[in-house]
Amino acid sequence: MKFQNLQEIKSKALTILDDNARNYYCSGACDEVTLSANQMAYQNIELLFRVMVDVSRIDTSVDILGTRLSMPVLIAPTAFHGLAHQDKELATARAAKKRGCLFINSTLSNTAVEDIGPIAPFWFQLYVYRDRVLTKELIERAEAAGATAVVLTVDAPVLGLRETDSRKSFVLPSHLTCANLESYNFTEIYQADDGSGLANHVGKLHDASLTWKDIEWMRSISKLPIIVKGVVHPEDARIATESGASGIVVSNHGGRQLDTSISTIEALQRISQTFDSKHLLLVDGGIRRGTDIVKALAAGADAVLIGRPVLWGLTVGGQSGVEKVLETLRKEFENAMALCGVTSIDKISKDLLVKKAG
Ligand SMILES: Cc1cc2nc3c(=O)[nH]c(=O)nc-3n(C[C@H](O)[C@H](O)[C@H](O)COP(=O)(O)O)c2cc1C
Repeated sequence: MKFQNLQEIKSKALTILDDNARNYYCSGACDEVTLSANQMAYQNIELLFRVMVDVSRIDTSVDILGTRLSMPVLIAPTAFHGLAHQDKELATARAAKKRGCLFINSTLSNTAVEDIGPIAPFWFQLYVYRDRVLTKELIERAEAAGATAVVLTVDAPVLGLRETDSRKSFVLPSHLTCANLESYNFTEIYQADDGSGLANHVGKLHDASLTWKDIEWMRSISKLPIIVKGVVHPEDARIATESGASGIVVSNHGGRQLDTSISTIEALQRISQTFDSKHLLLVDGGIRRGTDIVKALAAGADAVLIGRPVLWGLTVGGQSGVEKVLETLRKEFENAMALCGVTSIDKISKDLLVKKAG
């Protein structure tokens, strides 16, 4: 595959996807201000690189919750990989394993956790349903299937106003299922009603009453570490870890929830000033270049999550397309480290960052 960068992979993917999938994958909430801000904010941070360091050997590997990764990159949970490729999440999970990254499987995947477990190490992303028996079952099934952490998404108590999905009446095509929920025979996702199938599903079934005390409830069900995803406020970051979470993902859901919310790299810079470094600090949103990963780590993150680019890779080439995305990022990251004068992850520090003037 002769792509130079993630943008080229995206451009190719957009020519392959049908309208339903393309709009669903690409879009953000309302005016998509946050969607673009996530990416733009990285361009507004400059790298104050160092020279005359021996960079003939670069180690990009890192330990995340006891798992050694080839680089500080995890695959963000994204719903419905079957819209991109017939091999669905199996292709993504295989690619992650092959390239030494970690796959996070969405509650709304087209592949059941029981089928992911034998393929690759994974974390399970949880949406809490009003039906707590169902929710408990999801956690238990994920743990039994081999998940090593639960990622609790907290920035979507209600669905963001995704006007494109609503305008185009996004639905899950009938040949795909929400495989983790199959025994419940939910049909909302296939019916757009007056919005989108996803808005229909989330509005009727997800639990908007979730609060911090539910972390305690989750801890009574499973011993797996809990990572809270969708935090931008330093105070919430503090409460998350005090409530028993092992870490957080600084995230605004890739600009798909509250539009005009803070970009995630800016939120990370605020959070990392007071965050207890015993806990895992992850960030996602708009990461498209190796230099973005350097900036996120310099701002205090232990690792980053990648969302849409993985879907572009999956679209253009299934497993090998996702591998291409990961390998492209790894090469760029290694190159950026060398040119910044750092040889290992622990040497990436905030001295490397300056805010663009004006
Ligand atoms: C198509 C799509 C589906 C998503 N589905 C989920 C999901 O099921 N659960 C979740 O926690 N986040 C979901 N997200 C948000 C991602 O986990 C992640 O926060 C976001 O994509 C990161 O931004 P990026 O796409 O700019 O890398 C989704 C994002 C996209 C683009």
